[in-house]
Amino acid sequence: MVAETEVSVKDLIYPMFLVDGNGIEDAIPSLPGQNRWSLDLMLPEIESCLNLGIKSFVLFPGVEENLKDADASYSYNEKNFYLKAIREIKKQFPEACLISDVAMDPYSSDGHDGMVVKGEIVNDETLPILAKMAVAQANAGIDIIGPSDMMDGRVEYLREELDDAGFENTSIMSYTAKYASAFYGPFRDALESAPKAGDKKTYQMDPANKYEALREAELDEAEGADFLMVKPALCYLDIVHLLKKEFNIPIAAYNVSGEYAMLKAAAEKGWLNYDASMQEMLLSIKRAGADVILTYAAKEFALLNQK
Ligand code: PBG
Repeated sequence: MVAETEVSVKDLIYPMFLVDGNGIEDAIPSLPGQNRWSLDLMLPEIESCLNLGIKSFVLFPGVEENLKDADASYSYNEKNFYLKAIREIKKQFPEACLISDVAMDPYSSDGHDGMVVKGEIVNDETLPILAKMAVAQANAGIDIIGPSDMMDGRVEYLREELDDAGFENTSIMSYTAKYASAFYGPFRDALESAPKAGDKKTYQMDPANKYEALREAELDEAEGADFLMVKPALCYLDIVHLLKKEFNIPIAAYNVSGEYAMLKAAAEKGWLNYDASMQEMLLSIKRAGADVILTYAAKEFALLNQK
């Protein structure tokens, strides 16, 4: 009766990995329980999640190495399997809320979220590429655009380009305070998207910084973001709390791959009770102030909490 916080399956967004092909349900070793799916097998998986009450999904593409180039041109190519898949999923399940990933890394031969010129990530030259990617995704039927790239000024740039292309109703969930974290390792394994050289510290945030998150959030809100996201979640609950207190728009928290993997690994060794620790983790993220949580445990949580 007096519990202050409750996690509901309605709060959860399920990140899923999509690959080209047929009949593929390829287990990701560093993310036990998660797979790379081809569209034909992802469709029934989405249906089973919808039946469990999960309504929202973030889709990440695993792109063949030979389709990657320096300017991520496959990301807006008409033949792109990811864009085709979005169209098909929306056709079969119009009630599903689909969230995209906007960043160059899955399509970039350099493995960076922005364009690389002479070893540097060039912010302003990256924006038009992100915009082409976002408009192509909106055109395929994505409901919410998810810029995860951390370039400066991209929310305003994407908002204007989406509006000009007639996608005024497509929302933006901005990865606002995305830290240069060691907890993304299993995700990069899943997509083979690790940077080929250098690291992401010139565009992702320094884990030492809290007040910089406020500046990022002020900019994103002013530029037209519909959600502000904090990522990762668990080591950054203070940031989630701070943004929830200071901003009056929905706050999202990304319970990232490494956070999921560490519970799985400890549970495999018999050192943690997975179901209990996973639910406590999600509860703590909600209690800190997240309105919505992106988590690989979405389906597991839904199965445990069936009415
Ligand atoms: C890349 C991107 C990353 C994640 C989501 N989008 C990795 C990175 O920035 O290197 C990580 C998600 C996770 O670890 O679960 N744009």
